[in-house]
Amino acid sequence: MPKKYYIETYGCQMNVADSEVVASILSDAGYSPSVSIDDADIILVNTCSIRENAEQRVWGRLDLFRAQKKKRPQVIVGVLGCMAERLKEKLLESGKMVDIVAGPDAYRDLPMLVETAAAGNPAVNVLLSREETYADISPVRLGSNGVSAFISIMRGCNNMCAYCVVPYVRGAERSRDPESIIREAKEAFDMGFREVTLLGQNVNSYAWNGAVPEDEVTPAGLLKKISDQDSGHRFSNLVNGLTAPDRYPLTGKQEPVNFAGLLEMVASVHPELRVRYSTSHPKDLSDDVLEVMAGHNNICRHIHLPVQSGSSSVLKRMNRKYTREWYLGRVAAINRILPGCTLSTDIIAGFCGETEEEHQETLSLMREAGFDFAYMFKYSERPGTKASRKMKDDVPDEVKTRRLNEIIALQNEISAVSKKADTGQTFEVLVEGPAKKPAGAMTGRTSGNKVVVFRASEVQPGDYVNVTVTRSTSATLIGNLMT
Ligand code: SAH
Ligand code: SF4
Ligand code: F3S
Repeated sequence: MPKKYYIETYGCQMNVADSEVVASILSDAGYSPSVSIDDADIILVNTCSIRENAEQRVWGRLDLFRAQKKKRPQVIVGVLGCMAERLKEKLLESGKMVDIVAGPDAYRDLPMLVETAAAGNPAVNVLLSREETYADISPVRLGSNGVSAFISIMRGCNNMCAYCVVPYVRGAERSRDPESIIREAKEAFDMGFREVTLLGQNVNSYAWNGAVPEDEVTPAGLLKKISDQDSGHRFSNLVNGLTAPDRYPLTGKQEPVNFAGLLEMVASVHPELRVRYSTSHPKDLSDDVLEVMAGHNNICRHIHLPVQSGSSSVLKRMNRKYTREWYLGRVAAINRILPGCTLSTDIIAGFCGETEEEHQETLSLMREAGFDFAYMFKYSERPGTKASRKMKDDVPDEVKTRRLNEIIALQNEISAVSKKADTGQTFEVLVEGPAKKPAGAMTGRTSGNKVVVFRASEVQPGDYVNVTVTRSTSATLIGNLMT
């Protein structure tokens, strides 16, 4: 029987968290992890389908695994995650010698699938679930730095952005029991972790047991209410009012919990446990959440708020359900309620029908919002999505590349300016470990998620230290340890 597994992970943070769930399930079934492919009996690859090049990388890896299998025919190769869900049995027929195909909701079945494959039979489970959240499984933190841990708080996505494959490969949105989330955060703290990141495709719609997901309050309705009442604070009462238990009768003992409530609960686990979250959807980020952040210093002053485009007409074609003005209004609310909070984003260049003017609007929004960091991509058509069915991928590749390069160049400029402004300031830094260079230096991050490198001899990963910034590059702050 196979005994040792090796797992390789591609894609987003959710996949990293899922691989830790897979490790836990396999360990409970008696398998042990291996750090090298060469002595593994089972080779697993947890995959991503978000863009075509993400899938291309995995195909390349499968060629390498096939070579292993030619040397050691008893080796079992399994494809997990989003690509497994998208391509299903086709992976077995691909000629890549794949033995197991398991979608993101099928990981409890892995020990069975391994046995099936070991007996020489094809093993496939790509069923999506409406309930699975792996709530009871304590992740095995395999590749972690021992300081930062991911906690999945929900799975799936209901948003149907026109370009995006996630709803098809991850299924319907569902939220995880808050008690199990708090337990996991406490366990992480007790094990020495000092930072947890709460993960979901749209954390603002987290809703447990009858809580009103924030996305039921539409941007248009919210705008009206905010302008009617002119105060973010009264708006916060409004959301609290909506989630009152008497409006939403309880099925069990637990109170309904929305994202603002969950964030508050996790922040209360320990003042020395930093809390981050990702991803916020601009249409649903309410003042409520910003006010909870303002009330807890250990909730990090950083929000990842993917804008995708600065043009309202492109956003409409993308089915993002907000406008440029709405987005900038959310940025203004962040600056008002959380002064100094950093912002990062995702941008897609060259979506279907994107004109030069629409592209220019993205550049001007980037300047107005002043992002500290951005992930920037060329639009990649994904089979089965609304964009691939109903729209034309009509921006020529060289135009996409040129626009992407303009976006990247501008972001580098903005990032450098924002880092330069930190010179002379002192930040609390959570130490993560030795820096790659220079030798003897340590690295960590500020609450605003900026990477800091500094010289120190006595500090340990997990320590909080104060560092005064002396200079910066576009990606890193360099500073001196304060004593
Ligand atoms: N749930 C998150 C993002 C998940 S995917 C959100 O709504 O923001 C991460 C990023 O990949 C997206 O924000 C988007 O910028 C990018 N992306 C998704 N589909 C893409 C596609 N077909 N082509 C190019 N980039 C894409
Ligand atoms: Fe994709 Fe949109 Fe869902 Fe994000 S919110 S995962 S971009 S469909
Ligand atoms: Fe990729 Fe799946 Fe995440 S498609 S981005 S690994 S949800």
